[in-house]
Amino acid sequence: MISNAMAQRLNQQINKEFYSAYFYMSMSAHSESENLAGMAAWFMAKYNEETAHAMKIYRYLHDQGARVELEAVDKPPTRYAGVLDMFEKTLAHEQEVTASFNDLVEATLAEKDHATSIFLHWFVTEQIEEEATVSNIIGRVKLVGERGEGLFMIDNELAGLAKQMPQTMDIQVP
Ligand SMILES: [Fe+2]
Ligand SMILES: [Fe+2]
Repeated sequence: MISNAMAQRLNQQINKEFYSAYFYMSMSAHSESENLAGMAAWFMAKYNEETAHAMKIYRYLHDQGARVELEAVDKPPTRYAGVLDMFEKTLAHEQEVTASFNDLVEATLAEKDHATSIFLHWFVTEQIEEEATVSNIIGRVKLVGERGEGLFMIDNELAGLAKQMPQTMDIQVP
């Protein structure tokens, strides 16, 4: 059993994860329109990952006897200035998500809600990985540039990365 306040916070986090998914799908769509197939695949894999994050919290709420309450998901940006812009927006977004998990963990400590605290550790660790991956991509885009051959190289590299990521929705239906 978790408190109503904690359930509300976790429901808000579900919304943030769905926003992340929607945001990445929007960048996948933009990339595909720009003939960047590798990038489109990478952002779509991120969409899948974020949906799986939302579902992890969804499952936890039910396991704790709390209610899942879905809210409207905000509209993500639909136009991007270029590849660097997309990855810089991605990093800024992931940093916000990290801050949000830190706040959540602090709330669990204040409530002495150890179960939720331990549950959230997975997300805290995951955020380190996500920020590092995106920072690395930004560094490489800056190195090779975002047009011509450089862009072609980055797109191929992202296609390779996308192949290592789960391409199907990792949602467990009981
Ligand atoms: Fe996430
Ligand atoms: Fe993320």
